[in-house]
Amino acid sequence: MKNNPNREKILRALAQEEVVSGAEISSSLGVTRTAVWKQITTLRADGYVIPGDPRSGYRLMAEGERAYEVSLLRAFAGEGRRVVFFPETGSTNTDLKELAAAGAPTGTLCVAEKQTEGRGRRGRSFASPAGGVYFSLLLRPKLPLSEVSALTGAVAVACARALEAETGLEVGIKWVNDLYLNRKKFVGILCEATADLESGTPEYVAVGVGIDLSGELPEELDGIATTVEREGGRIPDRATLIAKTVRAIEAAAKEPLSPEILSESRRRSVLLGKRVTVTRGDESFRATAKEINDRGELVIERENGDRETLFSGEVSVHGEAGS
Ligand code: BTN
Repeated sequence: MKNNPNREKILRALAQEEVVSGAEISSSLGVTRTAVWKQITTLRADGYVIPGDPRSGYRLMAEGERAYEVSLLRAFAGEGRRVVFFPETGSTNTDLKELAAAGAPTGTLCVAEKQTEGRGRRGRSFASPAGGVYFSLLLRPKLPLSEVSALTGAVAVACARALEAETGLEVGIKWVNDLYLNRKKFVGILCEATADLESGTPEYVAVGVGIDLSGELPEELDGIATTVEREGGRIPDRATLIAKTVRAIEAAAKEPLSPEILSESRRRSVLLGKRVTVTRGDESFRATAKEINDRGELVIERENGDRETLFSGEVSVHGEAGS
Protein backbone atom coordinates (compact mmCIF):
# COMPACT_ATOMS: atom_id res chain seq x y z
CA MET A 1 0.00 0.00 0.00
CA LYS A 2 1.44 3.38 -0.92
CA ASN A 3 2.13 5.49 2.09
CA ASN A 4 3.14 9.13 2.04
CA PRO A 5 3.11 10.39 5.63
CA ASN A 6 3.54 14.07 4.67
CA ARG A 7 0.64 13.95 2.26
CA GLU A 8 -1.61 12.31 4.87
CA LYS A 9 -0.56 14.78 7.56
CA ILE A 10 -1.10 17.81 5.35
CA LEU A 11 -4.53 16.55 4.37
CA ARG A 12 -5.38 16.05 8.04
CA ALA A 13 -4.11 19.54 8.88
CA LEU A 14 -6.18 21.06 6.07
CA ALA A 15 -9.27 19.26 7.34
CA GLN A 16 -8.93 20.80 10.82
CA GLU A 17 -10.05 24.34 10.20
CA GLU A 18 -12.00 26.25 7.60
CA VAL A 19 -8.89 28.18 6.60
CA VAL A 20 -5.35 27.25 7.53
CA SER A 21 -2.20 29.05 6.43
CA GLY A 22 0.85 27.42 4.87
CA ALA A 23 2.91 28.73 7.81
CA GLU A 24 0.63 27.04 10.35
CA ILE A 25 0.81 23.74 8.53
CA SER A 26 4.56 23.96 8.16
CA SER A 27 5.16 24.72 11.86
CA SER A 28 2.66 22.17 13.18
CA LEU A 29 4.09 19.40 11.00
CA GLY A 30 7.76 20.44 11.15
CA VAL A 31 8.12 20.58 7.36
CA THR A 32 9.24 23.53 5.23
CA ARG A 33 6.73 25.91 3.68
CA THR A 34 8.03 24.91 0.29
CA ALA A 35 7.27 21.27 1.08
CA VAL A 36 3.73 22.27 2.10
CA TRP A 37 3.23 24.30 -1.06
CA LYS A 38 4.55 21.47 -3.26
CA GLN A 39 2.32 18.94 -1.55
CA ILE A 40 -0.73 21.19 -1.98
CA THR A 41 0.07 21.55 -5.68
CA THR A 42 0.25 17.75 -5.96
CA LEU A 43 -2.98 17.34 -4.02
CA ARG A 44 -4.77 19.76 -6.35
CA ALA A 45 -3.48 17.83 -9.34
CA ASP A 46 -4.86 14.69 -7.70
CA GLY A 47 -8.37 16.12 -7.60
CA TYR A 48 -8.59 17.72 -4.13
CA VAL A 49 -10.38 21.06 -4.21
CA ILE A 50 -8.15 23.44 -2.20
CA PRO A 51 -8.79 27.10 -2.93
CA GLY A 52 -6.43 29.69 -1.40
CA ASP A 53 -2.77 30.61 -1.33
CA PRO A 54 0.04 30.56 1.25
CA ARG A 55 -0.71 34.02 2.64
CA SER A 56 -4.50 34.04 2.91
CA GLY A 57 -4.56 30.37 3.82
CA TYR A 58 -6.07 27.25 2.28
CA ARG A 59 -9.43 25.52 2.51
CA LEU A 60 -10.04 21.87 1.80
CA MET A 61 -13.47 21.44 0.26
CA ALA A 62 -15.61 18.31 0.38
CA GLU A 63 -16.30 18.60 -3.34
CA GLY A 64 -15.64 16.80 -6.58
CA GLU A 65 -14.11 13.35 -6.93
CA ARG A 66 -12.54 13.53 -3.44
CA ALA A 67 -15.71 14.57 -1.62
CA TYR A 68 -16.17 11.29 0.30
CA GLU A 69 -12.59 11.19 1.52
CA VAL A 70 -12.58 14.86 2.55
CA SER A 71 -15.90 14.45 4.39
CA LEU A 72 -14.30 11.60 6.32
CA LEU A 73 -11.24 13.65 7.22
CA ARG A 74 -13.56 16.40 8.40
CA ALA A 75 -15.70 13.99 10.41
CA PHE A 76 -12.61 12.92 12.35
CA ALA A 77 -10.87 16.34 12.38
CA GLY A 78 -8.92 17.12 15.52
CA GLU A 79 -8.69 13.51 16.68
CA GLY A 80 -5.26 12.84 15.17
CA ARG A 81 -6.70 9.57 13.92
CA ARG A 82 -5.11 8.04 10.85
CA VAL A 83 -7.77 7.62 8.16
CA VAL A 84 -6.74 5.88 4.95
CA PHE A 85 -9.21 6.11 2.10
CA PHE A 86 -9.35 3.96 -1.03
CA PRO A 87 -11.63 4.72 -4.00
CA GLU A 88 -11.24 0.99 -4.64
CA THR A 89 -9.29 -1.74 -2.88
CA GLY A 90 -9.25 -5.51 -2.49
CA SER A 91 -10.22 -5.65 1.17
CA THR A 92 -9.95 -2.96 3.85
CA ASN A 93 -9.34 -5.69 6.44
CA THR A 94 -6.28 -6.82 4.48
CA ASP A 95 -5.07 -3.21 4.14
CA LEU A 96 -5.59 -2.56 7.84
CA LYS A 97 -3.78 -5.72 8.89
CA GLU A 98 -0.77 -4.58 6.85
CA LEU A 99 -0.80 -1.25 8.69
CA ALA A 100 -1.27 -3.01 12.05
CA ALA A 101 1.69 -5.30 11.41
CA ALA A 102 3.77 -2.18 10.67
CA GLY A 103 2.82 -0.73 14.07
CA ALA A 104 -0.18 1.51 13.28
CA PRO A 105 -1.88 2.79 16.45
CA THR A 106 -5.27 1.85 17.80
CA GLY A 107 -8.04 3.82 16.06
CA THR A 108 -6.44 3.63 12.60
CA LEU A 109 -9.20 3.42 10.02
CA CYS A 110 -9.29 2.15 6.43
CA VAL A 111 -12.32 3.05 4.33
CA ALA A 112 -13.14 2.05 0.75
CA GLU A 113 -15.75 3.24 -1.69
CA LYS A 114 -15.84 -0.29 -3.06
CA GLN A 115 -13.92 -3.54 -2.60
CA THR A 116 -12.98 -6.04 -5.27
CA GLU A 117 -12.13 -8.88 -2.87
CA GLY A 118 -14.30 -8.13 0.14
CA ARG A 119 -13.95 -10.91 2.69
CA GLY A 120 -16.61 -12.42 4.92
CA ARG A 121 -16.42 -14.96 7.72
CA ARG A 122 -15.50 -18.57 7.07
CA GLY A 123 -13.51 -17.71 3.95
CA ARG A 124 -16.56 -16.40 2.12
CA SER A 125 -16.53 -13.37 -0.11
CA PHE A 126 -18.47 -10.24 0.72
CA ALA A 127 -20.03 -8.39 -2.21
CA SER A 128 -18.89 -4.78 -1.93
CA PRO A 129 -20.27 -2.68 -4.80
CA ALA A 130 -20.31 1.13 -4.84
CA GLY A 131 -23.18 2.47 -2.74
CA GLY A 132 -22.22 0.48 0.36
CA VAL A 133 -20.02 1.43 3.28
CA TYR A 134 -16.87 -0.61 3.89
CA PHE A 135 -14.42 0.10 6.67
CA SER A 136 -11.93 -1.57 8.98
CA LEU A 137 -10.99 -0.20 12.38
CA LEU A 138 -7.86 -1.13 14.27
CA LEU A 139 -8.25 -1.87 17.97
CA ARG A 140 -5.50 -2.73 20.39
CA PRO A 141 -7.79 -3.67 23.27
CA LYS A 142 -6.54 -4.22 26.77
CA LEU A 143 -8.69 -7.26 27.30
CA PRO A 144 -7.88 -10.81 28.32
CA LEU A 145 -7.86 -13.17 25.33
CA SER A 146 -10.91 -14.90 26.79
CA GLU A 147 -12.94 -11.73 26.17
CA VAL A 148 -11.77 -11.09 22.63
CA SER A 149 -14.32 -13.42 21.08
CA ALA A 150 -17.05 -11.37 22.82
CA LEU A 151 -15.85 -8.32 20.89
CA THR A 152 -17.76 -9.31 17.75
CA GLY A 153 -21.03 -9.30 19.69
CA ALA A 154 -20.25 -5.89 21.19
CA VAL A 155 -19.34 -4.51 17.76
CA ALA A 156 -22.68 -5.78 16.45
CA VAL A 157 -24.55 -3.94 19.21
CA ALA A 158 -22.55 -0.75 18.56
CA CYS A 159 -23.25 -0.88 14.82
CA ALA A 160 -26.95 -1.60 15.43
CA ARG A 161 -27.23 1.45 17.72
CA ALA A 162 -25.52 3.79 15.26
CA LEU A 163 -27.44 2.48 12.26
CA GLU A 164 -30.79 2.64 13.97
CA ALA A 165 -30.16 6.25 15.00
CA GLU A 166 -28.98 7.25 11.51
CA THR A 167 -31.48 5.38 9.33
CA GLY A 168 -34.59 5.36 11.54
CA LEU A 169 -35.03 1.61 10.88
CA GLU A 170 -35.32 -1.10 13.53
CA VAL A 171 -32.12 -3.14 13.47
CA GLY A 172 -31.94 -6.77 14.61
CA ILE A 173 -28.84 -8.85 15.36
CA LYS A 174 -28.41 -12.39 14.16
CA TRP A 175 -25.89 -13.75 16.63
CA VAL A 176 -23.13 -13.12 16.39
CA ASN A 177 -22.09 -10.85 13.56
CA ASP A 178 -24.92 -10.05 11.17
CA LEU A 179 -27.34 -7.14 11.33
CA TYR A 180 -30.81 -7.55 9.93
CA LEU A 181 -33.62 -5.40 8.58
CA ASN A 182 -36.97 -7.11 8.10
CA ARG A 183 -35.43 -10.62 8.22
CA LYS A 184 -32.72 -9.84 5.69
CA LYS A 185 -29.04 -9.21 6.25
CA PHE A 186 -27.70 -5.72 5.55
CA VAL A 187 -24.49 -5.59 7.61
CA GLY A 188 -21.66 -8.09 8.00
CA ILE A 189 -18.87 -7.89 10.57
CA LEU A 190 -15.52 -9.62 10.37
CA CYS A 191 -13.18 -9.35 13.39
CA GLU A 192 -9.70 -10.72 12.84
CA ALA A 193 -7.31 -10.87 15.80
CA THR A 194 -3.70 -11.75 16.44
CA ALA A 195 -2.63 -12.69 19.93
CA ASP A 196 0.43 -12.19 22.08
CA LEU A 197 0.44 -15.55 23.82
CA GLU A 198 3.05 -14.53 26.35
CA SER A 199 1.05 -11.67 27.81
CA GLY A 200 -2.27 -13.39 27.14
CA THR A 201 -3.64 -10.29 25.40
CA PRO A 202 -4.56 -9.55 21.81
CA GLU A 203 -1.91 -7.76 19.76
CA TYR A 204 -4.59 -6.18 17.64
CA VAL A 205 -8.06 -6.74 16.31
CA ALA A 206 -9.07 -5.64 12.80
CA VAL A 207 -12.80 -4.90 12.97
CA GLY A 208 -14.25 -4.97 9.46
CA VAL A 209 -17.76 -3.67 8.83
CA GLY A 210 -19.67 -3.81 5.55
CA ILE A 211 -23.01 -1.98 5.33
CA ASP A 212 -25.40 -2.39 2.41
CA LEU A 213 -26.66 1.16 2.33
CA SER A 214 -27.84 1.65 -1.23
CA GLY A 215 -27.08 0.49 -4.74
CA GLU A 216 -27.47 -2.87 -6.44
CA LEU A 217 -26.61 -6.15 -4.74
CA PRO A 218 -25.67 -9.26 -6.75
CA GLU A 219 -28.66 -11.30 -7.88
CA GLU A 220 -27.65 -14.35 -5.86
CA LEU A 221 -28.35 -12.34 -2.68
CA ASP A 222 -32.00 -11.78 -3.64
CA GLY A 223 -34.22 -12.72 -0.72
CA ILE A 224 -31.21 -13.00 1.61
CA ALA A 225 -29.73 -9.53 1.75
CA THR A 226 -31.16 -6.05 1.56
CA THR A 227 -30.12 -2.40 1.71
CA VAL A 228 -31.21 0.54 3.86
CA GLU A 229 -32.53 2.17 0.70
CA ARG A 230 -34.63 -0.85 -0.24
CA GLU A 231 -36.16 -0.97 3.25
CA GLY A 232 -37.15 2.68 3.01
CA GLY A 233 -34.69 4.03 5.59
CA ARG A 234 -33.02 7.42 5.63
CA ILE A 235 -29.73 7.34 3.72
CA PRO A 236 -27.24 9.03 6.02
CA ASP A 237 -24.11 10.81 4.88
CA ARG A 238 -21.53 8.01 4.72
CA ALA A 239 -18.78 9.91 6.51
CA THR A 240 -21.09 10.86 9.40
CA LEU A 241 -22.35 7.29 9.62
CA ILE A 242 -18.80 5.91 9.77
CA ALA A 243 -17.73 8.44 12.41
CA LYS A 244 -20.72 7.62 14.62
CA THR A 245 -20.29 3.88 14.15
CA VAL A 246 -16.54 3.96 14.83
CA ARG A 247 -17.07 5.92 18.05
CA ALA A 248 -19.82 3.53 19.15
CA ILE A 249 -17.54 0.54 18.45
CA GLU A 250 -14.65 2.04 20.40
CA ALA A 251 -16.91 2.72 23.39
CA ALA A 252 -18.44 -0.78 23.32
CA ALA A 253 -15.05 -2.48 22.92
CA LYS A 254 -13.91 -1.13 26.31
CA GLU A 255 -16.27 -3.52 28.09
CA PRO A 256 -17.71 -5.98 25.59
CA LEU A 257 -19.48 -8.02 28.25
CA SER A 258 -21.07 -5.12 30.10
CA PRO A 259 -24.66 -5.69 31.29
CA GLU A 260 -25.88 -2.97 28.88
CA ILE A 261 -24.28 -4.61 25.85
CA LEU A 262 -25.52 -8.06 26.84
CA SER A 263 -29.07 -6.94 27.44
CA GLU A 264 -29.11 -5.06 24.15
CA SER A 265 -27.79 -8.06 22.24
CA ARG A 266 -30.60 -10.13 23.77
CA ARG A 267 -33.23 -7.48 23.04
CA ARG A 268 -32.10 -7.14 19.40
CA SER A 269 -31.62 -10.86 18.79
CA VAL A 270 -33.55 -12.27 15.84
CA LEU A 271 -32.74 -15.82 17.00
CA LEU A 272 -33.88 -16.13 20.61
CA GLY A 273 -36.89 -18.39 21.01
CA LYS A 274 -36.72 -19.46 17.35
CA ARG A 275 -36.17 -22.85 15.79
CA VAL A 276 -32.75 -22.67 14.14
CA THR A 277 -30.42 -24.71 12.01
CA VAL A 278 -26.89 -24.92 13.38
CA THR A 279 -24.04 -25.74 11.01
CA ARG A 280 -20.72 -26.78 12.47
CA GLY A 281 -18.12 -28.11 10.06
CA ASP A 282 -19.84 -30.90 8.14
CA GLU A 283 -22.54 -31.30 10.77
CA SER A 284 -25.89 -29.58 10.57
CA PHE A 285 -28.73 -29.99 13.06
CA ARG A 286 -31.95 -28.39 14.28
CA ALA A 287 -32.31 -26.75 17.65
CA THR A 288 -34.01 -23.92 19.50
CA ALA A 289 -32.07 -20.75 20.38
CA LYS A 290 -32.57 -20.42 24.14
CA GLU A 291 -30.43 -17.60 25.48
CA ILE A 292 -27.36 -15.44 25.13
CA ASN A 293 -25.41 -16.08 28.32
CA ASP A 294 -23.29 -13.64 30.32
CA ARG A 295 -20.26 -14.52 28.20
CA GLY A 296 -22.09 -13.49 25.04
CA GLU A 297 -22.38 -17.10 23.88
CA LEU A 298 -25.51 -18.62 22.35
CA VAL A 299 -27.16 -21.43 24.25
CA ILE A 300 -29.20 -23.78 22.10
CA GLU A 301 -31.35 -26.78 22.89
CA ARG A 302 -31.25 -29.79 20.59
CA GLU A 303 -34.41 -31.67 19.69
CA ASN A 304 -33.53 -34.35 22.28
CA GLY A 305 -33.44 -31.69 25.02
CA ASP A 306 -29.62 -31.49 25.31
CA ARG A 307 -28.29 -27.98 25.75
CA GLU A 308 -25.10 -26.70 24.14
CA THR A 309 -23.21 -23.45 24.20
CA LEU A 310 -21.96 -22.01 20.92
CA PHE A 311 -18.94 -19.68 20.88
CA SER A 312 -19.21 -18.97 17.20
CA GLY A 313 -20.73 -20.72 14.27
CA GLU A 314 -23.36 -20.62 11.68
CA VAL A 315 -26.91 -20.37 12.89
CA SER A 316 -29.86 -19.59 10.67
CA VAL A 317 -33.52 -19.32 11.49
CA HIS A 318 -35.09 -22.57 10.41
CA GLY A 319 -36.81 -22.15 7.07
CA GLU A 320 -35.00 -18.92 6.20
CA ALA A 321 -31.99 -18.76 3.93
CA GLY A 322 -28.73 -18.15 5.76
CA SER A 323 -26.16 -15.74 4.45
C1 BTN B 1 -19.63 -11.49 6.87
O1 BTN B 1 -20.77 -11.13 6.57
O2 BTN B 1 -19.30 -12.70 6.85
C2 BTN B 1 -18.61 -10.46 7.26
C3 BTN B 1 -18.45 -9.42 6.20
C4 BTN B 1 -17.46 -8.35 6.57
C5 BTN B 1 -17.28 -7.36 5.45
C6 BTN B 1 -16.38 -6.21 5.81
S1 BTN B 1 -16.40 -4.95 4.57
C7 BTN B 1 -15.03 -4.17 5.29
C8 BTN B 1 -14.09 -5.27 5.70
N1 BTN B 1 -13.25 -5.68 4.60
C9 BTN B 1 -13.47 -6.95 4.24
O3 BTN B 1 -12.89 -7.54 3.32
N2 BTN B 1 -14.42 -7.48 5.01
C10 BTN B 1 -14.91 -6.54 5.99
